Amino acid sequence: MKVLGIESSCDECAAAVVEDGAWVLSNVVATQIPWHAAYNGVVPEIASRMHTEWIGGVVKEALDRAGIGPDGIDGVAATAHPGLLGSLLVGLNFAKAFAWAARIPFIAVDHMLAHLYAPRLSPAPSPGCQNPPGNTAPDYPFLGLLVSGGHSIICRADGFDDITVLGTTIDDAAGEAFDKVSKHYGFGYPGGAAIDRLAKDGDPAAFRFPLPSLRKGDHPYDVSYSGLKTAVINQLEQFRAKPRPAAAGGNAEATAGNSEAASIAASFQKTAVEILLRALFRAAEDTGISTVVSGGGVAANSLLRARLAEHQGLRCVFPPPELCGDNGAMVAGLGFQYLARGDRSPLSAAASARIKAFKRRYP
Ligand code: KG4
Ligand code: ZN
Repeated sequence: MKVLGIESSCDECAAAVVEDGAWVLSNVVATQIPWHAAYNGVVPEIASRMHTEWIGGVVKEALDRAGIGPDGIDGVAATAHPGLLGSLLVGLNFAKAFAWAARIPFIAVDHMLAHLYAPRLSPAPSPGCQNPPGNTAPDYPFLGLLVSGGHSIICRADGFDDITVLGTTIDDAAGEAFDKVSKHYGFGYPGGAAIDRLAKDGDPAAFRFPLPSLRKGDHPYDVSYSGLKTAVINQLEQFRAKPRPAAAGGNAEATAGNSEAASIAASFQKTAVEILLRALFRAAEDTGISTVVSGGGVAANSLLRARLAEHQGLRCVFPPPELCGDNGAMVAGLGFQYLARGDRSPLSAAASARIKAFKRRYP
């Protein structure tokens, strides 16, 4: 079964064709990053307008690259939540119209569940393909570490749609902290990738930023980023006070040769990753589950990947970097699972800014 997946929850306008929930036949991601960069963040009005302009072309490109026409598609999946409402509506309504016109089933899916599904995808079989499905897709149950610009979730997955939240952030999301720190220091946009790059030249022990001490009685797998974010931003005054060589492009604070900037990035990144790992390792110990699947934009972080890979007691599964960020392939893959068991969404299915598909249950 070939499923068209459409993703428009934030600033990526994306569509993909995936066969049998595993083989990625095409994966087109049109990013709006340059349009939002001037504002150092996603502007919802710009995002929804651009999705409206782009969605037709992006879907056509996905079909062309898969080498099929609309009549080669057996079902359509689209992200319905969580995300920016105006943006979600563009992809969701396009998907409904496509399914209606082609007289094929339609399914609305949750964006965060789709991120968790991403490691089950593989490139279409080709010479040199090293990751056939089944080799990487872990058995249930496993722990999920879902970390993006809007969410930080540690969960237990007992099935593709049977997810229990164990812990979440009590304030900012991990990706949001990367983005805000980067914005204040002028490291670049989007912040996560910029800090990840800059941190490679820095000393992670140069600055000591605090780990959050969640109050007694708080949920043991929750995380917090507002304290770290504030501490790193407070460091900015001292950072600015020191003379340093000027850089081109107005980002005088963030030259690649500026070792202090790199050390701030490295020290922040180390602490940000530590916060996630502390909660995750605790959850692994308490549940006895030793397989971890990570997804969402922050799952592309090189330090997070390295720290998880070196952990002896855990098997960690990451999607390939191109499937960590928002994409239509994860939506199509997850959509296939629902469609294959006979689930359908009505054409009246609503978009929502909030996560809908998770059970909230603390141990
Ligand atoms: O999943 P995603 O593409 O969009 C959302 O659903 O939010 O995640 C975007 C987030 C942004 O906050 C971005 O800064 C962060 O992922 N990110 C990273 C890295 N690449 C993207 N954070 C840390 N390290 C990275 N390499
Ligand atoms: Zn996402």
